[in-house]
This record gives sequence, C-alpha cells and structure tokens, in this order.
Amino acid sequence: MLKVTNLNVSYGDSRVIHDVSFSVEDNAAVAIVGRNGMGKSTLLKSLIGMIPVASGSISLDGHEISTLASFRRVQAGMAYVPQGRMIFPLLSVEENILSGLETGRYEAVPNFIYEFFPVLKEMSGRKAGNLSGGQQQQLAIARALVSKPSVLVLDEPTEGIQPSIIKEIAQSLNRLRKELGIAVLVSEQVLSFALEVADDILVLDLGRIVRSASKGAVDIDEVRSYLTV
Ligand SMILES: Nc1ncnc2c1ncn2[C@@H]1O[C@H](COP(=O)(O)OP(=O)(O)OP(=O)(O)O)[C@@H](O)[C@H]1O
Ligand SMILES: [Mg+2]
Repeated sequence: MLKVTNLNVSYGDSRVIHDVSFSVEDNAAVAIVGRNGMGKSTLLKSLIGMIPVASGSISLDGHEISTLASFRRVQAGMAYVPQGRMIFPLLSVEENILSGLETGRYEAVPNFIYEFFPVLKEMSGRKAGNLSGGQQQQLAIARALVSKPSVLVLDEPTEGIQPSIIKEIAQSLNRLRKELGIAVLVSEQVLSFALEVADDILVLDLGRIVRSASKGAVDIDEVRSYLTV
C-alpha cells in the first residue's frame, strides 16, 4: 500500500503542495483530478523522487521512501509514467522498453509486456516517434512496467489523445489491475476517464485536496466545477 501523509512540496520559497494525505490500497486505483497548474505533476514527481519533499511522509508497504533516490523507489515497487510520455522518438519501440530495464528485474523485454500490449510487439522495430499518441502512451506504460511495480503512477495519460483512444487507455489500466495486480495512481483532467479507472477520486485545488470520494459517491457536478475554468 502507498500511504502519503501531510506532504508539503515547494519550489524554493513557493509552496505548491499543502498537507496532502491519501492512500492507495493494494490493487486499488485512485485518480487525482485538478485543473492546469493545481499541482498534480508536482505531487506525483515528489512521490517518485524527482522533487524533494519539504515535509511529510511517503510510505510504500510500510517503508518510508520519501528520502530515497528515485531508482530506490522504483526498486521498492513504484513506477512512473511522466506527463507528455517522454519516449525516445528516434529509438525503436523495443529499445524504448529496454530503456526501462536499468533498475528493472529483466534482461530482455519480458513476455508479459508484449502479451499485454500486442501492438507493441508488432511494432517493436519501428521508431517510437512514428507511433500514434495512443500507442506512445502504451509504450510509456510498457517501459514503466518492466520494473514489475506494485504501484503505477501516471501523470495525465490522456493528454493530447483522441477520445476513442482514451477508452483504450482506460481499458489498459483496468487490465493492469485485474491481470497483473498492479495498483494505479493517476492524475487527470478528463473526469469521465478518471471515473472509468478509479475507485476513489481526489480533487486537487491550489495544491490541497479539497474533496475526496469513492466513485459511487462522487458529486460529479461539483467535481466538474473544479475542473472548468
Ligand atoms: N520547476 C518549477 N519551478 C517553480 N514553479 C513551478 C515549477 N514547476 C511547476 N511550478 C508551479 O507549480 C504549480 C503547479 O504546477 P504543476 O505542473 O504541478 O501543475 P499541474 O496540475 O501538473 O498542471 P498541468 O495540468 O498543466 O500539467 C504551478 O503554479 C506551476 O507554475
Ligand atoms: Mg502536470
């Protein structure tokens, strides 16, 4: 289980994340929704260790990880898919997946990756930059999966992706949980996507969690009001 307690994160003197607490149970899915600039990326980057925390706790399976280097957090079971995907466009699909292996537990692309994303197997020799946006998102997820995470953290996976493909990404995340037993923490602005993948919805507004509800109990109009400008 991932447990975040009273987390504060700053850029210099400017505090962006204020006293954030939540948890992601084993094999559960939690969505953090919020408008542009509300702190979603800052929060997720602090969880994976790209930004130091000012105070608070991040624990994974009972171990404090907030002071560990990113690669140690990956070894502890966390994986991260950055906003904008950040694949290497000039490398092949296969090379992109292998680039996730440095801290991973495999020496070649493990079978389960291609079983999970057959389209990546078909395209394994192609330059990643020539894939569609949805395929690139699958590739970014595949690269993260090679470390065999227990929690996959994704920052706005639907950004810049057309609606029909957004559905496919939702299906992939739901299969990740069902077939591989991986918990999911995802930031989003597309509420329909968040509701399709998550058990719990948290609303992040100006760096604070201002609402949290299980999917069945969400006041959709209220949450939507936080997402529209
Ligand atoms: N490197 C940085 N240095 C200083 N301030 C930053 C830095 N990165 C982000 N910020 C500020 O922190 C706040 C939160 O930004 P963040 O990128 O976390 O928001 P976000 O919710 O991910 O937005 P988006 O939906 O546009 O990706 C914003 O006010 C932003 O200007
Ligand atoms: Mg962001």
